[in-house]
Amino acid sequence: MDFTVRIFILQIFKYRRPPAVLRNSETRKQMNYKISNGKILLTGPDRLETAERDLYILDGRISFGPAGLPEESFEVVDAARHLVMPGLINMHTHAYMTLMRNYADDVGFDEWLFKRVMPVEDTLPLEGAYWGSLLACMEMIRTGTTTFMDMHMFRGQSCRAALETGMRAWIGRGLVGEDLYGDGLSRFRQGLEEQAEYECGRIRFTLAPHAIYSCGPKLLEQVAREAADRGMRKQIHLSESDNEVNDALRKYGKTPVALLRDTGFLDEKTILAHCVKMRGDDIAIIKEAGATVVTNPASNAKLGNGFAPLQDFLDAGIQVCLGTDGTCSNNTLNMFREMGLVSLIHKAIHRNPVTAPADTVVRMATANAGRALGLAGELGVIAEGGLADLIFLDLDAPSMFPVNNPVSALCYSACGSEVDSVMIDGSFVMRKGEYTSIDAER
Ligand code: NI
Repeated sequence: MDFTVRIFILQIFKYRRPPAVLRNSETRKQMNYKISNGKILLTGPDRLETAERDLYILDGRISFGPAGLPEESFEVVDAARHLVMPGLINMHTHAYMTLMRNYADDVGFDEWLFKRVMPVEDTLPLEGAYWGSLLACMEMIRTGTTTFMDMHMFRGQSCRAALETGMRAWIGRGLVGEDLYGDGLSRFRQGLEEQAEYECGRIRFTLAPHAIYSCGPKLLEQVAREAADRGMRKQIHLSESDNEVNDALRKYGKTPVALLRDTGFLDEKTILAHCVKMRGDDIAIIKEAGATVVTNPASNAKLGNGFAPLQDFLDAGIQVCLGTDGTCSNNTLNMFREMGLVSLIHKAIHRNPVTAPADTVVRMATANAGRALGLAGELGVIAEGGLADLIFLDLDAPSMFPVNNPVSALCYSACGSEVDSVMIDGSFVMRKGEYTSIDAER
Protein backbone atom coordinates (compact mmCIF):
# COMPACT_ATOMS: atom_id res chain seq x y z
CA MET A 1 0.00 0.00 0.00
CA ASP A 2 1.04 3.55 -0.68
CA PHE A 3 2.85 4.71 2.46
CA THR A 4 1.05 8.05 2.77
CA VAL A 5 -2.33 6.35 2.43
CA ARG A 6 -1.39 3.91 5.19
CA ILE A 7 -0.35 6.74 7.50
CA PHE A 8 -3.52 8.66 6.68
CA ILE A 9 -5.73 5.69 7.49
CA LEU A 10 -3.88 4.95 10.72
CA GLN A 11 -4.30 8.59 11.81
CA ILE A 12 -8.06 8.35 11.32
CA PHE A 13 -8.30 5.33 13.60
CA LYS A 14 -6.08 6.78 16.23
CA TYR A 15 -8.20 9.86 16.79
CA ARG A 16 -11.67 8.92 15.63
CA ARG A 17 -12.80 5.76 17.26
CA PRO A 18 -16.45 5.10 16.52
CA PRO A 19 -18.81 5.14 19.48
CA ALA A 20 -20.68 1.91 20.17
CA VAL A 21 -24.12 3.25 19.31
CA LEU A 22 -25.35 6.12 17.22
CA ARG A 23 -28.93 7.22 17.01
CA ASN A 24 -30.75 4.53 15.15
CA SER A 25 -33.83 5.36 13.13
CA GLU A 26 -35.19 1.86 13.80
CA THR A 27 -35.77 2.95 17.37
CA ARG A 28 -36.68 6.56 16.63
CA LYS A 29 -40.28 7.47 17.27
CA GLN A 30 -42.11 7.39 13.97
CA MET A 31 -43.98 10.59 13.11
CA ASN A 32 -46.93 10.89 10.77
CA TYR A 33 -46.50 13.58 8.14
CA LYS A 34 -48.66 15.40 5.65
CA ILE A 35 -46.58 16.62 2.72
CA SER A 36 -48.39 19.59 1.19
CA ASN A 37 -48.00 21.85 -1.85
CA GLY A 38 -45.32 19.70 -3.50
CA LYS A 39 -45.03 18.59 -7.09
CA ILE A 40 -45.22 14.79 -6.80
CA LEU A 41 -43.54 12.42 -9.28
CA LEU A 42 -46.02 9.64 -10.08
CA THR A 43 -46.06 6.69 -12.45
CA GLY A 44 -48.62 7.39 -15.18
CA PRO A 45 -50.02 4.79 -17.58
CA ASP A 46 -47.22 5.36 -20.14
CA ARG A 47 -44.68 7.56 -18.49
CA LEU A 48 -43.66 9.37 -15.33
CA GLU A 49 -45.67 12.50 -14.65
CA THR A 50 -46.03 15.09 -11.94
CA ALA A 51 -49.12 16.21 -10.06
CA GLU A 52 -49.75 18.65 -7.25
CA ARG A 53 -51.32 16.69 -4.43
CA ASP A 54 -50.89 15.93 -0.75
CA LEU A 55 -49.09 12.85 0.51
CA TYR A 56 -49.68 11.38 3.96
CA ILE A 57 -46.99 9.34 5.66
CA LEU A 58 -48.22 6.83 8.22
CA ASP A 59 -46.07 4.20 9.90
CA GLY A 60 -43.43 4.51 7.21
CA ARG A 61 -45.89 4.07 4.34
CA ILE A 62 -47.33 6.46 1.77
CA SER A 63 -51.04 7.22 1.62
CA PHE A 64 -52.94 9.63 -0.62
CA GLY A 65 -55.40 10.35 2.19
CA PRO A 66 -55.39 10.63 6.00
CA ALA A 67 -56.66 7.04 6.39
CA GLY A 68 -59.47 8.10 8.72
CA LEU A 69 -57.16 9.95 11.12
CA PRO A 70 -57.83 13.58 12.06
CA GLU A 71 -55.65 16.08 10.17
CA GLU A 72 -54.04 17.24 13.42
CA SER A 73 -52.38 13.87 13.88
CA PHE A 74 -50.02 14.76 10.99
CA GLU A 75 -47.08 17.12 11.12
CA VAL A 76 -47.39 19.29 8.02
CA VAL A 77 -44.32 19.45 5.76
CA ASP A 78 -44.55 22.38 3.35
CA ALA A 79 -43.11 21.15 0.05
CA ALA A 80 -43.96 24.27 -1.97
CA ARG A 81 -41.54 24.78 -4.90
CA HIS A 82 -40.21 21.25 -4.37
CA LEU A 83 -40.34 18.13 -6.49
CA VAL A 84 -41.09 15.11 -4.28
CA MET A 85 -39.94 11.84 -5.83
CA PRO A 86 -38.99 8.30 -4.81
CA GLY A 87 -35.49 8.10 -3.34
CA LEU A 88 -32.86 6.89 -5.79
CA ILE A 89 -31.65 3.28 -5.58
CA ASN A 90 -27.98 2.59 -6.16
CA MET A 91 -27.96 -1.06 -7.16
CA HIS A 92 -24.23 -1.69 -7.09
CA THR A 93 -21.64 -0.21 -4.79
CA HIS A 94 -18.97 -0.96 -2.20
CA ALA A 95 -19.53 1.59 0.55
CA TYR A 96 -16.30 0.88 2.44
CA MET A 97 -14.24 1.88 -0.62
CA THR A 98 -15.06 5.53 -0.05
CA LEU A 99 -11.83 5.92 1.91
CA MET A 100 -10.06 5.06 -1.38
CA ARG A 101 -11.64 7.90 -3.34
CA ASN A 102 -9.17 9.23 -5.94
CA TYR A 103 -6.56 6.78 -4.73
CA ALA A 104 -6.15 4.70 -7.92
CA ASP A 105 -7.13 6.78 -10.94
CA ASP A 106 -6.06 6.70 -14.57
CA VAL A 107 -4.98 3.05 -14.50
CA GLY A 108 -6.40 -0.01 -16.30
CA PHE A 109 -8.81 -2.47 -14.69
CA ASP A 110 -6.33 -5.24 -13.83
CA GLU A 111 -3.78 -2.87 -12.35
CA TRP A 112 -6.55 -1.01 -10.52
CA LEU A 113 -8.03 -4.15 -8.93
CA PHE A 114 -5.10 -6.47 -8.37
CA LYS A 115 -2.21 -4.05 -7.77
CA ARG A 116 -3.89 -1.05 -6.20
CA VAL A 117 -7.23 -1.95 -4.56
CA MET A 118 -6.71 -5.46 -3.22
CA PRO A 119 -3.46 -4.66 -1.35
CA VAL A 120 -5.22 -1.78 0.45
CA GLU A 121 -8.17 -4.01 1.31
CA ASP A 122 -5.80 -6.55 2.77
CA THR A 123 -4.47 -4.05 5.31
CA LEU A 124 -7.48 -1.81 5.92
CA PRO A 125 -8.60 -2.17 9.55
CA LEU A 126 -12.25 -2.95 10.31
CA GLU A 127 -12.83 0.55 11.62
CA GLY A 128 -11.61 1.97 8.34
CA ALA A 129 -14.36 0.12 6.55
CA TYR A 130 -16.84 1.53 9.05
CA TRP A 131 -15.78 5.14 8.49
CA GLY A 132 -15.67 4.62 4.74
CA SER A 133 -19.18 3.19 4.80
CA LEU A 134 -20.48 6.00 6.99
CA LEU A 135 -18.99 8.56 4.60
CA ALA A 136 -20.62 6.72 1.70
CA CYS A 137 -24.02 6.95 3.43
CA MET A 138 -23.49 10.67 3.98
CA GLU A 139 -22.76 11.22 0.30
CA MET A 140 -25.64 9.03 -0.82
CA ILE A 141 -28.16 10.79 1.42
CA ARG A 142 -26.87 14.22 0.40
CA THR A 143 -27.39 13.34 -3.27
CA GLY A 144 -30.79 11.70 -2.91
CA THR A 145 -30.02 7.98 -2.68
CA THR A 146 -32.13 6.19 -0.09
CA THR A 147 -31.33 2.53 -0.86
CA PHE A 148 -28.08 0.87 -1.85
CA MET A 149 -26.93 -2.62 -2.71
CA ASP A 150 -23.55 -3.23 -1.15
CA MET A 151 -20.88 -5.85 -1.67
CA HIS A 152 -18.30 -5.60 1.07
CA MET A 153 -15.19 -7.29 2.43
CA PHE A 154 -15.42 -6.17 6.06
CA ARG A 155 -17.75 -7.87 8.46
CA GLY A 156 -20.65 -5.77 9.70
CA GLN A 157 -19.31 -2.32 8.80
CA SER A 158 -21.71 -1.31 6.02
CA CYS A 159 -24.54 -2.80 8.10
CA ARG A 160 -23.60 -0.55 10.99
CA ALA A 161 -23.39 2.48 8.74
CA ALA A 162 -26.77 1.78 7.12
CA LEU A 163 -28.41 1.05 10.45
CA GLU A 164 -27.06 4.18 12.10
CA THR A 165 -27.73 6.59 9.24
CA GLY A 166 -31.24 5.28 8.58
CA MET A 167 -30.52 4.09 5.04
CA ARG A 168 -32.17 1.12 3.38
CA ALA A 169 -29.71 -1.48 2.12
CA TRP A 170 -29.27 -4.90 0.60
CA ILE A 171 -25.89 -6.12 1.80
CA GLY A 172 -23.68 -9.04 0.82
CA ARG A 173 -20.36 -10.26 2.17
CA GLY A 174 -18.07 -10.69 -0.86
CA LEU A 175 -17.34 -14.41 -1.29
CA VAL A 176 -14.30 -15.91 -3.01
CA GLY A 177 -12.85 -19.40 -3.39
CA GLU A 178 -13.52 -22.80 -4.88
CA ASP A 179 -15.66 -24.43 -2.24
CA LEU A 180 -18.25 -22.59 -0.11
CA TYR A 181 -17.75 -25.10 2.70
CA GLY A 182 -13.95 -25.18 2.29
CA ASP A 183 -11.85 -22.14 1.37
CA GLY A 184 -15.01 -20.01 1.11
CA LEU A 185 -16.38 -20.96 4.50
CA SER A 186 -15.06 -18.21 6.75
CA ARG A 187 -16.48 -15.46 4.53
CA PHE A 188 -19.77 -17.30 4.11
CA ARG A 189 -20.04 -17.68 7.89
CA GLN A 190 -19.25 -14.00 8.40
CA GLY A 191 -22.07 -13.08 6.03
CA LEU A 192 -24.57 -15.28 7.85
CA GLU A 193 -23.45 -13.94 11.22
CA GLU A 194 -23.93 -10.35 10.14
CA GLN A 195 -27.32 -11.26 8.71
CA ALA A 196 -28.34 -12.72 12.07
CA GLU A 197 -27.08 -9.62 13.83
CA TYR A 198 -28.35 -6.83 11.58
CA GLU A 199 -31.28 -7.99 9.45
CA CYS A 200 -34.34 -5.82 9.98
CA GLY A 201 -37.00 -4.07 7.88
CA ARG A 202 -34.50 -1.69 6.30
CA ILE A 203 -31.48 -3.97 6.09
CA ARG A 204 -31.61 -7.18 4.12
CA PHE A 205 -28.98 -9.59 2.96
CA THR A 206 -27.81 -11.13 -0.29
CA LEU A 207 -25.26 -13.78 -1.15
CA ALA A 208 -22.47 -12.09 -3.05
CA PRO A 209 -19.81 -14.17 -4.79
CA HIS A 210 -17.34 -11.58 -6.05
CA ALA A 211 -16.91 -12.69 -9.70
CA ILE A 212 -16.35 -15.77 -11.84
CA TYR A 213 -12.58 -15.16 -11.82
CA SER A 214 -12.43 -15.12 -8.01
CA CYS A 215 -15.01 -17.90 -7.43
CA GLY A 216 -14.93 -21.40 -8.87
CA PRO A 217 -17.96 -23.09 -10.53
CA LYS A 218 -18.48 -25.39 -7.55
CA LEU A 219 -18.74 -22.44 -5.16
CA LEU A 220 -21.18 -20.70 -7.52
CA GLU A 221 -23.35 -23.82 -7.59
CA GLN A 222 -23.27 -24.04 -3.80
CA VAL A 223 -24.16 -20.35 -3.45
CA ALA A 224 -27.09 -20.80 -5.85
CA ARG A 225 -28.45 -23.66 -3.73
CA GLU A 226 -27.95 -21.79 -0.45
CA ALA A 227 -29.67 -18.71 -1.87
CA ALA A 228 -32.63 -20.77 -3.07
CA ASP A 229 -32.93 -22.53 0.30
CA ARG A 230 -32.74 -19.25 2.18
CA GLY A 231 -34.90 -17.22 -0.23
CA MET A 232 -32.06 -14.73 -0.68
CA ARG A 233 -31.06 -12.60 -3.64
CA LYS A 234 -27.64 -13.07 -5.23
CA GLN A 235 -25.32 -10.42 -6.62
CA ILE A 236 -22.11 -10.79 -8.63
CA HIS A 237 -19.78 -8.77 -10.87
CA LEU A 238 -20.11 -10.18 -14.38
CA SER A 239 -18.36 -9.77 -17.74
CA GLU A 240 -16.79 -6.50 -16.69
CA SER A 241 -13.58 -6.68 -18.76
CA ASP A 242 -12.27 -8.37 -21.92
CA ASN A 243 -9.76 -10.32 -19.85
CA GLU A 244 -12.52 -11.82 -17.71
CA VAL A 245 -14.40 -13.07 -20.78
CA ASN A 246 -11.30 -14.29 -22.64
CA ASP A 247 -9.99 -16.12 -19.57
CA ALA A 248 -13.39 -17.81 -19.08
CA LEU A 249 -13.46 -18.90 -22.72
CA ARG A 250 -9.96 -20.38 -22.33
CA LYS A 251 -10.56 -22.00 -18.96
CA TYR A 252 -14.17 -23.17 -19.28
CA GLY A 253 -14.86 -22.98 -23.03
CA LYS A 254 -17.81 -20.67 -22.35
CA THR A 255 -18.61 -17.08 -21.53
CA PRO A 256 -19.02 -15.94 -17.92
CA VAL A 257 -22.79 -15.65 -18.53
CA ALA A 258 -23.01 -19.25 -19.82
CA LEU A 259 -20.91 -20.40 -16.88
CA LEU A 260 -23.36 -18.79 -14.46
CA ARG A 261 -26.30 -20.38 -16.26
CA ASP A 262 -24.67 -23.81 -16.12
CA THR A 263 -24.00 -23.51 -12.39
CA GLY A 264 -27.68 -22.76 -11.75
CA PHE A 265 -26.78 -19.27 -10.58
CA LEU A 266 -28.99 -17.29 -12.96
CA ASP A 267 -32.60 -16.71 -12.00
CA GLU A 268 -35.02 -13.87 -11.27
CA LYS A 269 -33.34 -13.24 -7.92
CA THR A 270 -29.91 -12.70 -9.50
CA ILE A 271 -28.46 -9.22 -9.81
CA LEU A 272 -25.65 -8.88 -12.34
CA ALA A 273 -23.34 -5.87 -12.05
CA HIS A 274 -21.68 -4.52 -15.22
CA CYS A 275 -22.42 -6.99 -18.10
CA VAL A 276 -20.21 -4.88 -20.36
CA LYS A 277 -18.76 -7.61 -22.57
CA MET A 278 -21.71 -9.58 -23.91
CA ARG A 279 -20.92 -12.25 -26.52
CA GLY A 280 -22.96 -14.78 -28.46
CA ASP A 281 -26.16 -15.74 -26.67
CA ASP A 282 -25.32 -13.93 -23.43
CA ILE A 283 -28.19 -11.45 -23.61
CA ALA A 284 -30.74 -14.16 -24.48
CA ILE A 285 -29.48 -16.26 -21.56
CA ILE A 286 -29.93 -13.37 -19.11
CA LYS A 287 -33.40 -12.66 -20.48
CA GLU A 288 -34.40 -16.33 -20.27
CA ALA A 289 -33.32 -16.48 -16.62
CA GLY A 290 -35.18 -13.28 -15.70
CA ALA A 291 -32.06 -11.86 -14.04
CA THR A 292 -31.50 -8.12 -13.49
CA VAL A 293 -28.62 -6.18 -15.04
CA VAL A 294 -27.07 -3.24 -13.19
CA THR A 295 -25.19 -0.91 -15.46
CA ASN A 296 -22.37 1.22 -14.01
CA PRO A 297 -21.48 3.67 -16.77
CA ALA A 298 -18.97 5.86 -14.93
CA SER A 299 -16.98 2.95 -13.52
CA ASN A 300 -16.91 1.09 -16.84
CA ALA A 301 -15.84 4.20 -18.72
CA LYS A 302 -13.26 5.27 -16.17
CA LEU A 303 -11.55 1.88 -16.00
CA GLY A 304 -11.46 1.76 -19.78
CA ASN A 305 -13.80 -1.25 -19.97
CA GLY A 306 -16.22 0.47 -22.34
CA PHE A 307 -19.98 0.46 -21.97
CA ALA A 308 -22.71 -2.12 -21.51
CA PRO A 309 -25.05 -2.76 -24.48
CA LEU A 310 -27.92 -0.97 -22.74
CA GLN A 311 -30.16 -0.70 -25.79
CA ASP A 312 -29.82 -4.45 -26.47
CA PHE A 313 -30.82 -5.21 -22.87
CA LEU A 314 -33.83 -2.91 -23.14
CA ASP A 315 -34.82 -4.33 -26.55
CA ALA A 316 -34.64 -7.84 -25.08
CA GLY A 317 -36.95 -6.81 -22.23
CA ILE A 318 -34.32 -7.32 -19.54
CA GLN A 319 -34.78 -5.39 -16.32
CA VAL A 320 -31.99 -2.82 -16.10
CA CYS A 321 -31.02 -0.84 -13.01
CA LEU A 322 -28.30 1.71 -12.33
CA GLY A 323 -25.31 1.67 -9.97
CA THR A 324 -22.27 3.78 -9.24
CA ASP A 325 -19.91 0.97 -8.24
CA GLY A 326 -17.46 1.94 -5.47
CA THR A 327 -15.98 5.38 -5.04
CA CYS A 328 -12.56 4.09 -5.98
CA SER A 329 -13.70 3.53 -9.58
CA ASN A 330 -16.29 6.30 -10.16
CA ASN A 331 -15.35 8.46 -8.05
CA THR A 332 -18.67 9.55 -6.59
CA LEU A 333 -21.83 7.88 -5.34
CA ASN A 334 -23.98 10.53 -6.99
CA MET A 335 -26.83 8.81 -8.83
CA PHE A 336 -27.86 12.06 -10.55
CA ARG A 337 -24.51 12.16 -12.31
CA GLU A 338 -24.92 8.48 -13.18
CA MET A 339 -28.37 9.10 -14.70
CA GLY A 340 -27.10 11.93 -16.88
CA LEU A 341 -24.05 9.94 -17.90
CA VAL A 342 -25.87 6.75 -18.90
CA SER A 343 -28.23 8.68 -21.13
CA LEU A 344 -25.52 10.78 -22.78
CA ILE A 345 -23.12 7.86 -23.32
CA HIS A 346 -25.73 5.77 -25.12
CA LYS A 347 -27.05 8.65 -27.20
CA ALA A 348 -23.47 9.27 -28.32
CA ILE A 349 -22.68 5.61 -29.01
CA HIS A 350 -25.79 5.12 -31.10
CA ARG A 351 -25.64 8.61 -32.59
CA ASN A 352 -29.30 8.70 -31.74
CA PRO A 353 -30.81 11.32 -29.41
CA VAL A 354 -33.82 9.08 -28.70
CA THR A 355 -31.70 6.37 -27.03
CA ALA A 356 -31.91 6.10 -23.20
CA PRO A 357 -34.57 8.79 -22.74
CA ALA A 358 -34.98 10.53 -19.40
CA ASP A 359 -38.12 8.60 -18.44
CA THR A 360 -36.36 5.23 -18.97
CA VAL A 361 -33.30 6.37 -17.05
CA VAL A 362 -35.21 7.71 -14.04
CA ARG A 363 -37.09 4.40 -13.83
CA MET A 364 -33.77 2.52 -13.93
CA ALA A 365 -32.77 4.44 -10.80
CA THR A 366 -36.12 3.95 -9.03
CA ALA A 367 -38.99 1.60 -9.97
CA ASN A 368 -36.90 -1.00 -11.82
CA ALA A 369 -34.76 -1.45 -8.73
CA GLY A 370 -37.83 -1.83 -6.54
CA ARG A 371 -38.97 -4.64 -8.83
CA ALA A 372 -35.55 -6.28 -8.84
CA LEU A 373 -35.63 -6.27 -5.04
CA GLY A 374 -39.01 -7.99 -4.95
CA LEU A 375 -40.86 -4.81 -3.92
CA ALA A 376 -42.70 -3.85 -7.11
CA GLY A 377 -45.15 -1.05 -6.41
CA GLU A 378 -43.69 -0.52 -2.92
CA LEU A 379 -40.13 0.66 -3.44
CA GLY A 380 -38.95 3.18 -6.04
CA VAL A 381 -42.45 4.53 -6.66
CA ILE A 382 -44.86 6.91 -5.00
CA ALA A 383 -47.93 4.74 -4.60
CA GLU A 384 -50.65 4.05 -2.04
CA GLY A 385 -49.13 1.77 0.58
CA GLY A 386 -45.61 2.22 -0.79
CA LEU A 387 -42.56 2.60 1.44
CA ALA A 388 -42.01 6.23 2.41
CA ASP A 389 -38.56 6.69 0.89
CA LEU A 390 -38.81 10.19 -0.57
CA ILE A 391 -36.50 12.96 -1.66
CA PHE A 392 -37.34 16.65 -1.98
CA LEU A 393 -35.63 18.68 -4.72
CA ASP A 394 -35.57 22.47 -4.66
CA LEU A 395 -37.16 23.57 -7.92
CA ASP A 396 -35.74 27.06 -7.48
CA ALA A 397 -32.15 25.76 -7.50
CA PRO A 398 -30.24 27.49 -10.33
CA SER A 399 -29.36 24.12 -11.86
CA MET A 400 -33.06 23.19 -12.14
CA PHE A 401 -34.83 26.48 -12.87
CA PRO A 402 -36.99 26.86 -14.93
CA VAL A 403 -38.40 23.35 -14.82
CA ASN A 404 -40.04 23.02 -18.22
CA ASN A 405 -39.99 19.24 -17.95
CA PRO A 406 -39.42 17.75 -14.48
CA VAL A 407 -38.40 14.26 -15.68
CA SER A 408 -35.88 15.68 -18.15
CA ALA A 409 -34.58 17.97 -15.42
CA LEU A 410 -33.86 14.96 -13.19
CA CYS A 411 -31.83 13.25 -15.91
CA TYR A 412 -30.10 16.15 -17.63
CA SER A 413 -29.99 19.09 -15.22
CA ALA A 414 -29.97 17.91 -11.61
CA CYS A 415 -26.58 17.38 -10.02
CA GLY A 416 -27.72 16.21 -6.56
CA SER A 417 -27.24 19.53 -4.78
CA GLU A 418 -30.94 20.28 -5.36
CA VAL A 419 -31.87 17.58 -2.84
CA ASP A 420 -32.65 19.38 0.39
CA SER A 421 -34.63 16.80 2.36
CA VAL A 422 -34.56 13.01 2.45
CA MET A 423 -37.01 10.65 4.12
CA ILE A 424 -36.35 6.93 4.49
CA ASP A 425 -38.87 4.51 5.94
CA GLY A 426 -41.03 7.44 7.00
CA SER A 427 -38.28 9.25 8.95
CA PHE A 428 -36.30 12.28 7.82
CA VAL A 429 -32.57 11.55 7.61
CA MET A 430 -31.90 14.98 6.10
CA ARG A 431 -34.13 18.02 6.50
CA LYS A 432 -33.51 21.38 4.82
CA GLY A 433 -29.93 20.35 4.14
CA GLU A 434 -29.18 19.17 7.69
CA TYR A 435 -28.52 15.54 8.51
CA THR A 436 -30.79 14.32 11.29
CA SER A 437 -29.26 10.87 11.76
CA ILE A 438 -25.56 11.65 11.25
CA ASP A 439 -23.16 13.76 13.23
CA ALA A 440 -21.24 14.97 10.18
CA GLU A 441 -18.66 16.86 12.20
CA ARG A 442 -17.70 13.70 14.05
NI1 NI B 1 -18.16 -3.46 -8.04
